[in-house]
Amino acid sequence: MTDDIYGKYRPALKAVLADIAARIEAYNEQEKAKNGEMAYEHLIYRIKSSDSMAEKCRRKGLPETSQSALLNIKDAIGIRIVCRFVDDIYLNVRYIKAMAGCRIVQEKDYIKHVKPNGYRSYHMILEFTEPYEDAAGANPGHFFAEIQIRTIAMDSWASLEHQMKYKHDVKNTDIIERELKRCADELAACDVSMQTIRNLICSEQ
Ligand code: GTP
Ligand code: MG
Repeated sequence: MTDDIYGKYRPALKAVLADIAARIEAYNEQEKAKNGEMAYEHLIYRIKSSDSMAEKCRRKGLPETSQSALLNIKDAIGIRIVCRFVDDIYLNVRYIKAMAGCRIVQEKDYIKHVKPNGYRSYHMILEFTEPYEDAAGANPGHFFAEIQIRTIAMDSWASLEHQMKYKHDVKNTDIIERELKRCADELAACDVSMQTIRNLICSEQ
């Protein structure tokens, strides 16, 4: 363990994450009150550990400073929204985009543009203006967050694939990659069916 790469900015980082999470939870409650159904199933979030962030800085050829960690790298704050149905992903995207003081820096739709290995998820890098000093000295400051939005099925595939990839030194990669891709596609077909069933049930009411 080295020094905290976020240094004096850690309290601000924690406050920004708590604020974003509270606003996401608030629209979920609002959606539940309006339609009787939640916008998402669950929400998880974290501040990337100082060690992982220092490793990412090294990997990207950046100095291991708070500035690199908070200005160059934009996923110190990581939020994952796990939804029940594919359409809910886009509902969450709309809510996030409508948040005050939020600017979209990057958007990647790995559901419409599936990664070759089968990975599916909707990714956004966002910049939030918040009443704390940032690593460039501005106050109100700009803080970045990565938000990943996916279904329960996409999330289970990604967790298992991640665990297997990082915990084992996989040898016979061709067959394993092919099988993982097949599982991802089968889960995606189930997501489509579940969405269809939900639409049928909703149209009957
Ligand atoms: P970084 O340099 O890590 O920011 O890469 P990037 O900006 O090219 O990343 P991208 O937006 O594609 O993915 C960022 C995050 O998405 C990763 O840290 C993972 O959490 C998740 N992710 C992306 N691809 C995969 C994948 O193939 N499998 C799994 N399990 N997770 C993935
Ligand atoms: Mg990234």
